[in-house]
Amino acid sequence: MLRVAIIGAGRIGRVHAESVASHPKATLVAVCDPMGTAAEDLAAVYGAKAYKDAADVFADTEVDAVIVGSPTPLHAEHVLGATRSGKAVLVEKPVAKDVEEAKALDAELATFEHPPVMVGFQRRYDPSIRGAKDLVDAGKIGDVEQVVIVARDPSAPPASYVAVSGGLFKDMSIHDFDEARFFLGDIEEVVAFGQQTLPELKDTGDFDAAMILLRGKNGTVASITNQRRCVTGYDQRLEVHGSEGSVSMDNWRDTTLHLNKAEFSGSQDPYQNFFLQRYAAAYRNELTAFIDAIVDGAPVSPTVSDGVAALVIAQAAGESAASGRAVRIEG
Ligand SMILES: NC(=O)c1ccc[n+]([C@@H]2O[C@H](COP(=O)([O-])OP(=O)(O)OC[C@H]3O[C@@H](n4cnc5c(N)ncnc54)[C@H](O)[C@@H]3O)[C@@H](O)[C@H]2O)c1
Repeated sequence: MLRVAIIGAGRIGRVHAESVASHPKATLVAVCDPMGTAAEDLAAVYGAKAYKDAADVFADTEVDAVIVGSPTPLHAEHVLGATRSGKAVLVEKPVAKDVEEAKALDAELATFEHPPVMVGFQRRYDPSIRGAKDLVDAGKIGDVEQVVIVARDPSAPPASYVAVSGGLFKDMSIHDFDEARFFLGDIEEVVAFGQQTLPELKDTGDFDAAMILLRGKNGTVASITNQRRCVTGYDQRLEVHGSEGSVSMDNWRDTTLHLNKAEFSGSQDPYQNFFLQRYAAAYRNELTAFIDAIVDGAPVSPTVSDGVAALVIAQAAGESAASGRAVRIEG
C-alpha cells in the first residue's frame, strides 16, 4: 500500500483524501493544515495523523507520497520539501505561482534524483476528455484542425480566494490551456479578451470572464470561453474538429432523461454542479496514474514541464488582455 499524506485540507484536499482512502493501492496516513482544526478534522475521518507544519510531513518516514493541495503560492516550496525527502508528489495546479517560479522549480528538480512529480490537471483523466483524445490518437477524426473549449463555473469564489489565486488565467483558464495542449501540442500565439462582469470581484482588479484564442505550432487553433459565474451551472464542453470528423463532449447530468411534450423538449437534470461532482472520476483516475508512475514506473503525465507550459500561456493571455495585442510565445 502506498502511504499518502495530504498538505492542505481545503476543498481539493478533501477530494483527494476521499480518493486516496477509497483506492485499493493507497492509504491516507497524514493530513497537514495549519489553520484551526482543519487537519485534525479531516484526519479523524480516515484515522490519519494530523500535522500543522509541512516539515513534519517531509520528516515522516511512514509517508511515501504527498498530495499538495495548499494555496498556490506555497506549491513550489511544498514540492521541493517533499521531493528532497524522497517522496513522490502530486501537486495541484498551477504548479507554482508564476512562470519564473515554475521554471526555477523545474530546473531545481532536474538537479537531483527524486520519485515522480505529477501536476493535477485532472481533465487528462476525465473519461470523456480522455476518450476524445483516444479517438483522436486512433485517427478517427483525421488531422485535428480546431478545438473549442467552454469552461464556466457556477459561481465565483470569494474575493479572498481570487486575491491569492494568481488571477483568472493562472487559476481557472490554466485547466483549459493544458486541455488545449493535450490536443494541439505546443502553442505559439495567444489572443485574450478579459471581462469584469461581477461587482463583488471588481476590487480584486482581476477579470472574471474571458475569451481566448490559441494558435498551435502546427497551425491548429483553439478557442476557450471562461466565466467565473454561469447561472446555468458548471458548463464544461469540448469539441475537437478534424479533417475526417469531429468528437464532442456535452455537459454531464445525473441522468440522460429528456421530457418531451408538444410544446417543449428538454433535459430533466441540471448540469452536474461543480468540479467535485463533474470530475470525481477524473480525480480518481488521476490518482491511479500517479500510483502507477510510482509503483510501476509508468510515464508521468502531466509533468512539471507541462505545468510550466500552461503557465507560460496564462502569462501570455494576461499580456494580451492588457495590451489588446496578440502575444507570441518564444521557444
Ligand atoms: N484540480 C482542480 O480541479 C482544483 C480544484 C480546486 C482547487 N485546486 C487548486 O488547489 C489549491 C487549493 O485550492 P482549494 O480550493 O482547495 O483552496 P482552500 O482554500 O479550500 O484550501 C487550501 C487549504 O490549504 C491550507 N493551508 C494554508 N497554508 C498552508 C500551509 N502552510 N501548509 C498546509 N496547508 C496550508 C488552508 O488552511 C486551506 O485549508 C489551489 O492551488 C487551487 O488552484 C485545484
